[in-house]
Amino acid sequence: MSVTVFETKEVQELLKAAANLNGGNGNARFQQVVHRLLGDLFKAIDDLDITPDEVWAGVNYLNKLGQDGEAALLAAGLGLEKYLDIRMDAQDKAVGLDGGTPRTIEGPLYVAGAPVRDGLSKIDLDEDAGAGPLVIRGTVKGTDGKPVANAVVECWHANSNGFYSHFDPTGAQTDFNLRGAVKTGADGKYEFRTLMPVGYGCPPQGATQQLLDGLGRHGNRPAHVHFFVTSGDHRKLTTQFNIEGDPLIWDDFAYATREELIPHVVEKTGGAALGLKTDAYKHIEFDFTLTPLLQGRDNQIVQRQRAAAEATATA
Ligand code: DHB
Ligand code: FE
Repeated sequence: MSVTVFETKEVQELLKAAANLNGGNGNARFQQVVHRLLGDLFKAIDDLDITPDEVWAGVNYLNKLGQDGEAALLAAGLGLEKYLDIRMDAQDKAVGLDGGTPRTIEGPLYVAGAPVRDGLSKIDLDEDAGAGPLVIRGTVKGTDGKPVANAVVECWHANSNGFYSHFDPTGAQTDFNLRGAVKTGADGKYEFRTLMPVGYGCPPQGATQQLLDGLGRHGNRPAHVHFFVTSGDHRKLTTQFNIEGDPLIWDDFAYATREELIPHVVEKTGGAALGLKTDAYKHIEFDFTLTPLLQGRDNQIVQRQRAAAEATATA
């Protein structure tokens, strides 16, 4: 028997008490957000007649999510991270900011602390028999088209098993394998010598995949490479590109694909002279266009918990 109790005085008082809305102590913004989110949940329970069994299944799910350490993965998979991008795009549009390389999600797998090299970094530190060489290079520019000097391009991507170093469940990779940072010179150029990544899949036994299974969704991403591009005079860019030809490009479980972020992959020879492991290699040219600070401020800096590691002397 479906009942509606949400609008009753008793429930509205309960919500206010739970969020300590009139309590004086606590953080007013936090109280406001908790009051709203809890209220939306209560209302959904009423509207959809969500049963106690279903509520407890959800509560237990949150425990598993935390135990698995997958809350940030789930945020990507449920489109929450994409939604934040959509909002930042709309904010940029509202203030007339355009012309930069499109942003797309950071994802949960960045590790701070990669060694910064001038102009060029070879980031395939560990053997990966399954992966062929890849050169990624381009120029960091401003919206005026001029090269940006002293920009730092950070890059991170998966290996041929779709695993990221530092988070690799097989333990096969050192901390900064396939992660690097390059500082541009006056010409704005950066280059990474690396290996071709393979698309990432959510841990099959994890809480994220469990939820996706219930929705009848897969938990896979096309092969992609992440970037942060920072420069004191511009806003930080968080983006990725996908590897052209990957069948999941338009079926990414994290919704990160954008039309402008699928550069051509060019087959080249001459890798031996560059010190690559085979003479034939793949080459991707990708320029970054950074947008100016807004009234002297970078409103694209996002605070979130990120992993960090120490680079070893040889890394
Ligand atoms: C996830 C994994 C990624 O490699 C990524 O770029 C974004 C999200 C994830 O598992 O949620
Ligand atoms: Fe990723």
